[in-house]
Amino acid sequence: MNARCAALCIASAVRSWARIRDSRLPLLLFLFLFYFHMLPLFALSSLFLSARAWNNGVAKLPPMGFNTWNRFQCGINETLMRDTAQAMLDLGFLAAGYNYVNLDDCWHLQDRDADGKLQVDSSKFPSGLNALTDYLHSLGFLAGIYEDEGTATCGGFAGSLGHEETDARSFVDWGFDFAKIDNCNSGDYPGTDAQRFSQWHDALKKVQADTGKMLVYTLVKWQGFDSWYWAPQISNAWRIFDDIQPNWGRIKEIINKASFIGQYARFYAHNDLDMLEVGNGGEDLSLNEERSHFTAWAMTKSPLLLGTDLSALSKEQIEILTNPEIIAINQDDQIAAPVQPFFWGKNLDGTDDPSFPAQYWSGYFQNTSTTAIMYLNFNDNPVDLNFTFDQSPHLDPDAKYAVRDLWKHRDLGEFAQFFFDAGVDTHDVRAYLFRKV
Ligand SMILES: *[C@@H]1O[C@H](CO)[C@@H](O)[C@H](O)[C@H]1NC(C)=O
Ligand SMILES: *[C@@H]1O[C@H](CO)[C@@H](O)[C@H](O)[C@H]1NC(C)=O
Ligand SMILES: *[C@@H]1O[C@H](CO)[C@@H](O)[C@H](O)[C@H]1NC(C)=O
Repeated sequence: MNARCAALCIASAVRSWARIRDSRLPLLLFLFLFYFHMLPLFALSSLFLSARAWNNGVAKLPPMGFNTWNRFQCGINETLMRDTAQAMLDLGFLAAGYNYVNLDDCWHLQDRDADGKLQVDSSKFPSGLNALTDYLHSLGFLAGIYEDEGTATCGGFAGSLGHEETDARSFVDWGFDFAKIDNCNSGDYPGTDAQRFSQWHDALKKVQADTGKMLVYTLVKWQGFDSWYWAPQISNAWRIFDDIQPNWGRIKEIINKASFIGQYARFYAHNDLDMLEVGNGGEDLSLNEERSHFTAWAMTKSPLLLGTDLSALSKEQIEILTNPEIIAINQDDQIAAPVQPFFWGKNLDGTDDPSFPAQYWSGYFQNTSTTAIMYLNFNDNPVDLNFTFDQSPHLDPDAKYAVRDLWKHRDLGEFAQFFFDAGVDTHDVRAYLFRKV
């Protein structure tokens, strides 16, 4: 129940009231009184499920950049970070919008120093973290770092429980712009994960009061995924599913989860489908599957963090990751809502099927005269796609639309009432913009 529903319910109650027949009066009267009796409760719950996200002034749009984990795990060092930033510049990733370069786990030591501060592993970062962030900033990037809300990170390095403000202050002093906070080694402590992640939120606000600097705050609550209910009020992005893997099966599971929680995304508050695996799959991820993976992440407005050795990417993979027409939807500064399914295709609408998620998705782009459509072919053979405009809440069934294919970069002409397109390859994707004419 939320405020909008409450308003609709009142309107419909009033409408039914007008249609009352004498015989039903006692029942309706009872329901009416019951409803108003419950109103304070609805109002209270809508505070928690509030449509309002925490606007901390950063990450209005999904962050784009690079993160070390998927490809390098603990094998990180300052040379890798510098080389990656240079490659992002040379290969056009920065120009395409990928402007964060983020460390993940394993950058620091198991113990704090005598003042209780985190210590960088100087065998990996001999020049120190300030030198690293200065360098990244000098190339035009922003810098990200990682911690954990428990007593140790997943890799076993010092965790932040009880030290959130000290650590937030260190991150700001070291020149970082972005913090990812993980969820390992906290299960035995009092309080909920939501409370521990709120301690980071509070710490970031205190440090901002002292220094003027606010970090992008992304969190990974993997001990039971439910953070979309509360994380929009305290963070910029929250993970929605178990760790991604470079295979089609896991990518489908994540897309299936995303199909049910698009309504929680807001400006400054993003569903995080996890870092990208484009480039990491080898035989396990075809080019079609990489294109589908990237398109689904971008159009559901997930953060887009490259997770591979950029120097090993093929020309085709770079084209996938830098498609400006797809990135424009991810970075839409007018419409925060992601594309959501309007027609499941093979399965019945609403089906929760991690091995065959929803196929037809839509959402507005820039304004309500422009609609983004995504179609995913989970079949193991090529198929045609076909839908009627009245199926999508984002299309006007009485209007004519000029349609553009965002992967072929081609205008397809004008369409009315329904749209048909032939020959979507196995595990491939189509993405279109429909402009009302
Ligand atoms: C830095 O990390 C990369 C990636 O793991 C590795 O290939 C390289 O040898 C490392 N360099 C140093 C100096 O440790
Ligand atoms: C809606 O947005 C599209 C895409 O940016 C633009 O081409 C069009 O002019 C806009 N239409 C209106 C009515 O604002
Ligand atoms: C697509 O669907 C429309 C409306 O249901 C139908 O009239 C049309 O014949 C279909 N086209 C193809 C090629 O299947």
